[in-house]
Amino acid sequence: MKIIDGKNISNKIIENIQKKVELKLKSGFRAPKLAIILIGENYASETYVSAKIRTCEKVGISTQLFRFDSNVKSSEVTGKIEELNYHPDYDGILVQLPLPSHLHQREILDIINPLKDVDGLTSLNTGFLALNRPKFIPATPLGIQKLLIESKVGIEGKHIVICGRSNIVGRPLSNLFSNDQVHSNATVTLCHSKTNNLINHTKNADILIVAVGNPEFINESMVKEGSIVIDVGINRVKDFSNKKGYRIAGDVNFDSVINKVSMITPVPGGVGPMTIAMLLENVLKSSS
Ligand code: GUN
Repeated sequence: MKIIDGKNISNKIIENIQKKVELKLKSGFRAPKLAIILIGENYASETYVSAKIRTCEKVGISTQLFRFDSNVKSSEVTGKIEELNYHPDYDGILVQLPLPSHLHQREILDIINPLKDVDGLTSLNTGFLALNRPKFIPATPLGIQKLLIESKVGIEGKHIVICGRSNIVGRPLSNLFSNDQVHSNATVTLCHSKTNNLINHTKNADILIVAVGNPEFINESMVKEGSIVIDVGINRVKDFSNKKGYRIAGDVNFDSVINKVSMITPVPGGVGPMTIAMLLENVLKSSS
């Protein structure tokens, strides 16, 4: 059994991006620049955004954070995005999700200039991916594909079962892996909360990818012997044996499946660090 070390793989990718940014600067180009829009107060979003900013700055990608109050008017946010859309100093625009409930997520995301949509979440870029003509691919799906490539896992012809159909992870993943492209061409089953007999699907997976946001949802009885398991979940669960009073758990019960699978991503240290590395790749691509 092998543990897929997302931290190590992402560090190598980040080092490589740093070298490419240095080369750009040496050639007289300005540093790539990412605008991040953060609305309201959400502890998880604050943590993700500071990790994104820290890693960008480490490799020489500039960032500018635009903060809005949780009761901001939609027109104020869309006005800022429109200003950034054609501003020559910015290569990428990211709106951190989730948004406060009074804001219409789809309408706001779709204001972003698709050429600066480094999160790949606009309807246009979602459609391009679904039509086998990818431009910007969302960072988490791209990170999972990279983890499998770096771990020398052949994807073509495999049965990939995805649990969770979110627009950020499950749905773009199903398009990415079913496309007719290198490191894709898998047979994909996309499961969700209304799927009947989920276990009958998960037990047939060569590669099982879980993004349901439910701690330790998948156990040993639900996985195939020798399969590969990718755990996208990052959940806080109460744990009073821990100084913080909680621990971070994935969507897979790691201890339960560990002796049955051939490869697995840990939480933390699996998919999470790859998401940031792939965002940086998208910003670099957008600046080229
Ligand atoms: N919130 C949680 N994950 C993500 C992500 O990948 N992108 C954005 N914009 N928001 C998120």
